[in-house]
Amino acid sequence: MRKKIVAGNWKMNTLPAEGVELAKGVVAQRGEVCECVNFIVCPPFTHLAQVAEALQGSTVELGAQNCAAEAKGAYTGEVAASMIAALGCKYVILGHSERRQYYGETSETLNKKMEQVYANGLTPIYCVGENLDEREAGNHFAVCKQQIEEVVFNLTEEQFKNLVIAYEPVWAIGTGKTATAEQAQEIHAYIREVLASKFGAAAAECPILYGGSCKPSNAAEIFAKEDVDGGLIGGAALKAEDFIGIGKGFMA
Ligand code: PGA
Repeated sequence: MRKKIVAGNWKMNTLPAEGVELAKGVVAQRGEVCECVNFIVCPPFTHLAQVAEALQGSTVELGAQNCAAEAKGAYTGEVAASMIAALGCKYVILGHSERRQYYGETSETLNKKMEQVYANGLTPIYCVGENLDEREAGNHFAVCKQQIEEVVFNLTEEQFKNLVIAYEPVWAIGTGKTATAEQAQEIHAYIREVLASKFGAAAAECPILYGGSCKPSNAAEIFAKEDVDGGLIGGAALKAEDFIGIGKGFMA
């Protein structure tokens, strides 16, 4: 049985006190959803420690949104994987389209970040996905395949067992435009095939999350698809009720 995951990517939102409130709300409502669903929140670096405290005693887990490609040293403004691990993070989002698009993140950088993430016992949530032009040109399969081949294929079999993939079509992120459940299933199944071509049967165990305007009203339909194992949630993760509501999609 693959893990079911609902992960909240808070992006550059919430001040520390607001983040703590949001985390407390998630903890308070978490019981409304089966323990079989794993909830993860990924706040900004600045309030990881405070949110970690707010999550104590609950099963809601903590993740970061990014980490440095280097272990430590003279890299002004960067945050090392060891630092976020020390704060209680278990996960790190890597290769989000906003980082690829606005911060020039490439497969080369992502390979180095992956190394740091595994060296510190963290689990990467590795994002892939095409933009609108690529989708309209029918290149979405090729784009996802390349993003996986250039980074995930460099992992060892052991590392691969500790990986989460998030498929996020760029045209659906923050736009209110969701991929249909059929579109999600089609590409999730394809991604799993690509993973299996390298890692064999272990690909059947890799959680593949859908991301892009996922909300309580569409989660159930998307999560019902065989190869969709949950969601990476942006906007709707900023309200505890909506975030938990998305988790309820597994119970519909
Ligand atoms: P969204 O963002 O849910 O606001 O579309 C998803 C993401 O970028 O992870």
